[in-house]
Amino acid sequence: MTVPTTTRLTRADCEAMDAADPLGRFRAEFALPEGVIYLDGNSLGALPRRVSQRMRTAVDEEWGRGLIRSWNDADWYKAPQRAGAAIARLVGADEDEVIVCDSTSVNLYKVLMGALRMQAGRRVIVSERGNFPTDVYVSARVAEQTGCELRAHDPADIPAALAEAGDDLAVLHLTQVNYKTGRVHDMAALTAAAQAQGGLVIWDLAHSAGTLEVDLNGCNADFAVGCGYKYLNGGPGAPAFVFVARRHVEALWQPIAGWHGHAQPFGFAHDFAPDPGIARMLVGTAPQLSLLALEEALTVFEDVDMGALRRKGQDLGDLFIRLADQELAAHGFGIASPRDAAARGSQVSLTHPQGYAIMQAIIDRGTIGDFRAPDILRFGFAGLYVSHADVWDAVATLRDVMESGAWDTAGYRAVKAVT
Ligand SMILES: Cc1ncc(COP(=O)(O)O)c(C=O)c1O
Repeated sequence: MTVPTTTRLTRADCEAMDAADPLGRFRAEFALPEGVIYLDGNSLGALPRRVSQRMRTAVDEEWGRGLIRSWNDADWYKAPQRAGAAIARLVGADEDEVIVCDSTSVNLYKVLMGALRMQAGRRVIVSERGNFPTDVYVSARVAEQTGCELRAHDPADIPAALAEAGDDLAVLHLTQVNYKTGRVHDMAALTAAAQAQGGLVIWDLAHSAGTLEVDLNGCNADFAVGCGYKYLNGGPGAPAFVFVARRHVEALWQPIAGWHGHAQPFGFAHDFAPDPGIARMLVGTAPQLSLLALEEALTVFEDVDMGALRRKGQDLGDLFIRLADQELAAHGFGIASPRDAAARGSQVSLTHPQGYAIMQAIIDRGTIGDFRAPDILRFGFAGLYVSHADVWDAVATLRDVMESGAWDTAGYRAVKAVT
């Protein structure tokens, strides 16, 4: 439902939007604590109820009783492929082009090294200034290891940077949704622009998978990576995923040759021979319990219309911005995210010089977002479990802590290890 732009909004308006929400029924799938408004699903997704039950079975029955037999009897062994196939549906890929393994950082290393190997004679990696640090660190280190040059640009300058790199362009590596601002890149246009120069393209979908309508094959993407623990709700430290377009799989040299990526892991051959398919992206034994949790969490998406989910993420963001304008104007907040919903993922970031303490104060009152230095308060709108009334209540809490000055304590200013 589109957020009205003319009238002053009330909580009753938000309740009416919830009553008309086609995705409202999914909230019951999640075990959110009473009184908590959870706006941090862009960092750690909420717990799907069915995962609790699955974990009890996995631990007590499959591990406890089945012991090592469960690799076969409970088919633990193929969980990376099964979870990959479930994610493939959400990101516009074929089932055998995605597999779940390792972390996003490690998967990025694997596809970047592999892509550069396909691009002999080309030495420029183009990326974005302001990309998530792990993306920058991994690509800078890969550039060092391969004698390539990493060029990081502001988003608006990327098309020109691709043209300038020309015949030297090896790889364009971008995160589709920026972690701080929520700004979305045009995947189709940038993929085409890089490929027009002969480049290969790697997308980080950490803040896209499970909330945007991603169409990797529709955009002719070459490679992608992304997290299992954000909008996919796989749980803390859930393994990540990696996409390799079918046209590249057979030729892809994977730099971390491990036994699970071998064509016959239980042949125990001395020499490495990669699996002919996507399983070559595997390295070693999976964190099996986390993988099973993610696999179960993904079943929630089986009857989710991703178009409706994308629209709800946009609507909740629009509503939050409307209410921030309406309720918080006197309190010195800025908006770091695009106001245009089409240019924004499912998050809105506010700025405030006292952002850290303000965030701690609202978390203490049950509204959970997070903080990114130096001044960003992030609010994620996971459409499966966030309601329009939640957005109203979150903004009301923000207004209360600002009007009362309740944020201004030494306790709220004391910075914790994880922000
Ligand atoms: C854009 C992006 N890429 C990668 C990561 C990190 O992934 P991992 O910890 O699985 O390596 C994050 C984490 O928040 C992220 O936001």
